[in-house]
Amino acid sequence: MLAKINPTTTQAWKKLQAHFARTDFDLRTLFLQPERFSNFSVEKENFLFDYSKNLINEETITLLFQLAEECQLKEAIDSMFSGTKINETESRAVLHTALRHFSDDPILIDGKNIKEEIRMVLNQMRDFSEKIISGEHRGFSGKQITDVVNIGIGGSDLGPAMVVSSLKHFKTRLNVHFVSNIDGSHLAETVKALNAETTLFIIASKTFTTQETMTNAASAKDWFLKNGGEYEDIAKHFVAISTNTKAVKNFGIDEENMFRFWDWVGGRYSLWSAIGLSIVLAVGFTRFEELLTGAFNVDQHFRTAKFSENIPVIMGLLGIWYRNFHHAETHAILPYSQYLHRFPAYLQQADMESNGKSVDRNGEFINYKTGPILWGERGTNGQHAFFQLIHQGTAIIPADFIAFTQSADHLSDHQEKLLANFFAQPEALAFGKTEIEARTELAKSGMDAATVENLVNHHIFQGNKPTNSLLFKELTPFSLGQLIALYEHKIFVQGVIWNIFSYDQFGVELGKVLAKTILPELKNDHHITSHDSSTNGLIAYFKRHHL
Ligand code: F6P
Repeated sequence: MLAKINPTTTQAWKKLQAHFARTDFDLRTLFLQPERFSNFSVEKENFLFDYSKNLINEETITLLFQLAEECQLKEAIDSMFSGTKINETESRAVLHTALRHFSDDPILIDGKNIKEEIRMVLNQMRDFSEKIISGEHRGFSGKQITDVVNIGIGGSDLGPAMVVSSLKHFKTRLNVHFVSNIDGSHLAETVKALNAETTLFIIASKTFTTQETMTNAASAKDWFLKNGGEYEDIAKHFVAISTNTKAVKNFGIDEENMFRFWDWVGGRYSLWSAIGLSIVLAVGFTRFEELLTGAFNVDQHFRTAKFSENIPVIMGLLGIWYRNFHHAETHAILPYSQYLHRFPAYLQQADMESNGKSVDRNGEFINYKTGPILWGERGTNGQHAFFQLIHQGTAIIPADFIAFTQSADHLSDHQEKLLANFFAQPEALAFGKTEIEARTELAKSGMDAATVENLVNHHIFQGNKPTNSLLFKELTPFSLGQLIALYEHKIFVQGVIWNIFSYDQFGVELGKVLAKTILPELKNDHHITSHDSSTNGLIAYFKRHHL
């Protein structure tokens, strides 16, 4: 089990508060130290993590490590990797790391080595994907499968969808689509261009009860049957990924066409499991294994590196520093890579569903801040949208800049221009533009003194906006696996320090239950009065206008 320590009661927390109150963190001054970059960056074989542009000094980081020690982070890491049931509220182990554990060591849950089952499912995924990709597996009319539609939502969609678009460059001949929204337009628009004879549906749902997925799956089956498929053809065109064998069978999918995973894999951590079947079909099994290997590489780093060199630990602690001491409400994720355009959305679930909690591991309501709001967008698009607020707004928004030195697509000097922006923005955010610099610049542009006086404040950039930079050599399945695992472990670190349970998600339930009550009310002709006046009014308007 994880320790249950209120972080605000630790010595380190109190020292951090005092340190925060008395220290002036001015990045221009802090960067006068020649070793600033080397002291606050970690270089690995294929990437560089630079955290020097943060509002920290040696004392800050030392105190943050002390906080991690007092909150027993090392012990917590060992507990997770060894299969202890640290998801206490659901009485489950947290072992997504076992899915990418390329070593002969056994991993035991309740005395049973789970590595064997993992290998079996991986083999099943490999064999199945090879048949589909090679064209050996044929649809009902004898044609090869050309399109795959993954139907799932949340963790059964966001992770695979993000990886498939990130690795588009490594694509097999298959076109992989994702349908998640219960808004029928998502499925309708997706199947418009598809042929039932050559389409394979993957119904991906850990529980196999999720309303969105079950509704989309049923409509996909209808579409298939209306477009030439017969009941006996379903086996060739529908497979399921789930932990719920009974529900899969009830849906009409043969157990043979089912890919299993386990309750010790959280939905938002499941892309490494059979939920990654769409990834395997999109890029091939070998690439999928490379993705797993990249994640394994970071797992080993997280497990063994001392805190001062441990990238997820540092990322997590910096997040605590901003959330709990600087009172930052949000954290921006800014990948300078078109391929990574789904990465912020994926990370929103991973992070906010994990650490959006307000009850601690003792069952008490918390009196300090936990998970921030995560958001983001590709660079450089974000620069032309919301960067104004990061540069000159009134909120402190720590940001992670992510980029790759190489581009897979060699188009004139696009990559140099992209990276010039990737370097320029954190520099501008950190060092800003002083009043003197702004004045000199305006005067130089030929403005008269009165206009300079009027405009000068608008041209000042306060600077001191904190950023991390993650610069990888290139975007490969391996490096993507590393990147995802870095953030998974960052989330873990923060959950441990905040003394919360990061692996349940009871907060999504209430709305789901209410929607179930409301659904029959939308289908009858009655005037609905069972809710508050606002909800009743909205339902009445819907009923007047819904055909
Ligand atoms: O509603 C939240 C959630 O339970 C997520 O945690 C999960 O990833 C998603 O729904 C989908 O769940 P399932 O894979 O069981 O359909």
